[in-house]
Amino acid sequence: MTVQRLDPGSPDSSGYGHDGISAPVSNAKLLHHKRLVLVWALMVLLPLALVRLSLFHVYPERMGGDRNLSAELQQMIQSVNLSALPSHRSGGCDLLQGEWIPDEVGPTYSNETCNHIQGHQNCLKNGRPDNGYMFWRWKPDDCELPRFNTTLFIELMRGKLMAFVGDSIARNHMQALLCTLSQAMIEKPIKTYTDEGDRHVRWWFPSNNFTVSTFWSPYLAFQTDDESHGIEKGHSKLFLDKLDPVWLANITQFDVLILSSGQWFFKNNLFFQNNTLIGCHHCPGFNITNLGFYFAYREILKHVLVELPKLQGFKGLAILRSFSPDHFEDGRWDNGGSCKRTVPFHPNRTIPTDSLTFEMHRIQREVYDCLERPDRVAMVDVTQISYLRPDGHPGPYRNFQPFSKEFVGHVQNDCLHWCIPGPVDTWNDMVLETMRQRLI
Ligand SMILES: *[C@@H]1O[C@H](CO)[C@@H](O)[C@H](O)[C@H]1NC(C)=O
Ligand SMILES: *[C@@H]1O[C@H](CO)[C@@H](O)[C@H](O)[C@H]1NC(C)=O
Ligand SMILES: *[C@@H]1O[C@H](CO)[C@@H](O)[C@H](O)[C@H]1NC(C)=O
Ligand SMILES: *[C@@H]1O[C@H](CO)[C@@H](O)[C@H](O)[C@H]1NC(C)=O
Ligand SMILES: *[C@@H]1O[C@H](CO)[C@@H](O)[C@H](O)[C@H]1NC(C)=O
Ligand SMILES: *[C@@H]1O[C@H](CO)[C@@H](O)[C@H](O)[C@H]1NC(C)=O
Ligand SMILES: *[C@@H]1O[C@H](CO)[C@@H](O)[C@H](O)[C@H]1NC(C)=O
Ligand SMILES: *[C@@H]1O[C@H](CO)[C@@H](O)[C@H](O)[C@H]1NC(C)=O
Ligand SMILES: *[C@@H]1O[C@H](CO)[C@@H](O)[C@H](O)[C@H]1NC(C)=O
Repeated sequence: MTVQRLDPGSPDSSGYGHDGISAPVSNAKLLHHKRLVLVWALMVLLPLALVRLSLFHVYPERMGGDRNLSAELQQMIQSVNLSALPSHRSGGCDLLQGEWIPDEVGPTYSNETCNHIQGHQNCLKNGRPDNGYMFWRWKPDDCELPRFNTTLFIELMRGKLMAFVGDSIARNHMQALLCTLSQAMIEKPIKTYTDEGDRHVRWWFPSNNFTVSTFWSPYLAFQTDDESHGIEKGHSKLFLDKLDPVWLANITQFDVLILSSGQWFFKNNLFFQNNTLIGCHHCPGFNITNLGFYFAYREILKHVLVELPKLQGFKGLAILRSFSPDHFEDGRWDNGGSCKRTVPFHPNRTIPTDSLTFEMHRIQREVYDCLERPDRVAMVDVTQISYLRPDGHPGPYRNFQPFSKEFVGHVQNDCLHWCIPGPVDTWNDMVLETMRQRLI
């Protein structure tokens, strides 16, 4: 397999990116991105993939699909007018224009004080040797992004329920919030519900009667591998106009609902709309149109964000947390790609316009900006600011002491999820700022 072509990156004089590691993929051809598609899909499935090596064998065969991506992408990119998109203003200040600056204060929790950090994201415990990545804060050019204020958060959420709906990155985000809250409230949340697979979980902070729930729903919409519509078990079927019942069933409970999705769309799927098979993303053997995953992503987002505010019983605010970028360099996740940087990128660096991250984010912005009821929906746009944080991923420290003599097995890099404490804590600063603007 060919290795990603790499942008050599540019040296700079500002303290960013001085670790001699080449820049992430930026000029890679779309075919390469197409490969990343599976890379990410499998990355999310990593624990499974590592056990079921058969997935690796499927991989090269799958890469050939969707050869028209380039034309499709180019058309989509041309159709958007970026300068027409509204900015992300907070009292006249664009929160997204800014840079990561050194911050002595650092995180409010650690692996010692919070036991809600998932093993694969517990970089401190796993022995990541550098800790500089925890000492940066996002500084908008013309104002401050307030630090997470637990008092304010609790004032807004006392007696209420916040739900995270999405994939493993949504859970990564939720755990950072649990850690932050459990410190300042000096109260351990109690797990009051979990399903058998630990996919849907509910936590309760008794003294303030605040509840956080997380729902595993990586597409937000209903998906099944089961036999359905005459198509046998084993083919993934995605229903673009059906909200996923796993969270929809609880809709009346949510005061703040944080939705996110992305990487799972890169997997093969058959698409249904109005109960009819209308196309797919890569489906050899089926005589139907390959509509590509961007199509499904856009349709589902449109459906979710338009339908939610209209749902009977939904009284809350829905927040779309935008696409989370990865930072594999010098390869992919399965052929030695890594993320060795220890400092953020220079703030002038932008997401390459031919990347999946750019396109997924652009679709999110486009759908969000066209909403009829923006009063009920907000967007927390973490994509560009997180793109500047190649230093924030576990890398090899997804495993405990990966370079020790005791470690057995292959050292796998994770440049997709985030170390916590880490940049995800800033996502929570942004969530709270959004809640302050919308709920007060
Ligand atoms: C970004 O800033 C660095 C350092 O100031 C500079 O060397 C580089 O050329 C800039 N890159 C772009 C794309 O402006
Ligand atoms: C690719 O695009 C061309 C021209 O737009 C079209 O004729 C062809 O059917 C497409 N192929 C696939 C596999 O979608
Ligand atoms: C893009 O949007 C800007 C701001 O709304 C507008 O001035 C400009 O004419 C638009 N460009 C195109 C090509 O539509
Ligand atoms: C936390 O991480 C440090 C290393 O950074 C380690 O020495 C310590 O044992 C860890 N504690 C827990 C509770 O995981
Ligand atoms: C935190 O929020 C509370 C309640 O709104 C407010 O009284 C307090 O001043 C805030 N603290 C900071 C440091 O902004
Ligand atoms: C706690 O909050 C729930 C809603 O999340 C509410 O139904 C319940 O009455 C509250 N309990 C108390 C004791 O305030
Ligand atoms: C969904 O609602 C049911 C019924 O009220 C409740 O038992 C369950 O805990 C909720 N699930 C989550 C993850 O909050
Ligand atoms: C959905 O399908 C039904 C019957 O299959 C049809 O009557 C209806 O017009 C379709 N609706 C849309 C929006 O396509
Ligand atoms: C594929 O579908 C088209 C349109 O429904 C039909 O004309 C064609 O014969 C089908 N091809 C095969 C191989 O079934």
